[in-house]
Amino acid sequence: MNINTTPGEAVMDFTPPTPVVPEAIETVVTTESIDPATSAAAPQAPSTETMSEQELLDIESEVCSYGDTVHYAEEPKFFENCEGSYLYDGEGTSYLDLQMWYSAVNLGYANQRVSDALKRQIDKLPQLACQYLHKEKVQLAYKIVNSVVKGFGAKGRVHFNVGGANAVEDALKLVRRHTGKSRMLAFEGGYHGRSLGASAITSSYRYRENFGEFGDRAEFVPYPYCFRCPYGKQVDSCELFCVQQIERKFDHEYTGWWNPKTNKSEFGAFIIEPMQGTGGYVPAPKGYFERLAKILKERNILLIDDEIQMGFFRTGKLWALEHMDGVTPDAMVFGKALTNGMNPLSGIWAKEELITPEKFGPGSTHSTFSSNSLGTATGLEVMKIFEESDYEISVPKKGEYFLGLLKELQQRHPEIGDVDGVGLALRMEMCEADGYSPSRELADRMFQIGLEGNLKVDGQRMGLVLDIGGYCKNVVTLAPSLEISYDEMDLAAKLLDLVITQAKKEI
Ligand SMILES: Cc1ncc(COP(=O)(O)O)c(C=O)c1O
Repeated sequence: MNINTTPGEAVMDFTPPTPVVPEAIETVVTTESIDPATSAAAPQAPSTETMSEQELLDIESEVCSYGDTVHYAEEPKFFENCEGSYLYDGEGTSYLDLQMWYSAVNLGYANQRVSDALKRQIDKLPQLACQYLHKEKVQLAYKIVNSVVKGFGAKGRVHFNVGGANAVEDALKLVRRHTGKSRMLAFEGGYHGRSLGASAITSSYRYRENFGEFGDRAEFVPYPYCFRCPYGKQVDSCELFCVQQIERKFDHEYTGWWNPKTNKSEFGAFIIEPMQGTGGYVPAPKGYFERLAKILKERNILLIDDEIQMGFFRTGKLWALEHMDGVTPDAMVFGKALTNGMNPLSGIWAKEELITPEKFGPGSTHSTFSSNSLGTATGLEVMKIFEESDYEISVPKKGEYFLGLLKELQQRHPEIGDVDGVGLALRMEMCEADGYSPSRELADRMFQIGLEGNLKVDGQRMGLVLDIGGYCKNVVTLAPSLEISYDEMDLAAKLLDLVITQAKKEI
């Protein structure tokens, strides 16, 4: 796309027209007999078709809920086009995207093969009630089931749903059905979605605060966040003290998680992210999950692997848990990049004994759009692309290169307290000048400056799309396209340098 030739949006003078109330109706109809919302006498709303962005923003502030994340930005942003690693605003300014819709667009924007697959399905079978079968659903489930056999040596089945949180809800149902228990273990800093069930197992109290009682709230366990170790230990000498603390909870009945007389735990499952996503792209130290999985297995507690953000080669493996030697999930949830951010589709995979038809029979869970044919067709194409790709080699290589660039940036900016990552899931933790005290303000300024689209690089005006996560909301979580080029990574480093430099001046 030539970014200089995209026409800027015309800014029109806008004065809302005075509503026209036809006289004839006013004289013949009494106010009791007419519903003003539906009658011909209802005022005509002005057409939004020709409005400028500013006019639409004004309307947005009146007609759209603020309950989503749009208003995290000081100035909510419109985009008009996307391609590869870039978003384009109405003036044709390009924004290098280093977050790719929270890792939902791993293959890059407007991927031709995925778009073509969607178009073919639109012409073939654009919609079908989920109670009937279509080929792509079965073909996609088969690919996912086989990928788990290949990655973990486990046999199971897949159940589709629409969004990540819906799949998490289904996983919770599986746990309850299989174990008869509704109590879950989960990590501090974990994120599993914002439906009620998913909020109950997501550690952030902010997501629950205004929504009443969460009786089935999970027990949250400290995550091995080594840069800020919750136990004040050093990773090279701690001997995984954090996992020892989990084990200790099963020592005897008074530690609260275990009855040695019945050999039973109060908890049905532990839900994990193999690398924390929204919590700040925090990798666990080597050996951590291997030991945790062993502890759970010995106590009959299921391991639920949330791959929604870190799956689909984000970390260089199809499933991020494949990095852990000999760890097999009992169930897995996935979503986001399965359709490369196109028609939504998510799902669960579970071991046969959990999801066998005798246990999880017809109607156990359902949503109208669950295995929608546009989603399964795009998901199928994405899985084919993954199978044909060399991401297992190229993603770690690119990740290493990008991490090297971040380390160079860290030399120039002591405010970057930590850089780390696995594959192309990278973190840059913004701090005060001491390199440790978290600076939410600095990270926030960087995010806003990037979105302003006023960064001058190599004679061009550009923007930068970042996302901020982490326990203290001070971590730039980087999830670039798996197709990002080496030139684009160099450009990313220049843009990051610019936003950090400017943000430091502004705060
Ligand atoms: C690890 C993880 N689980 C679950 C979810 C929820 O997915 P969704 O937003 O599609 O409901 C997310 C979303 O960011 C996630 O990162």
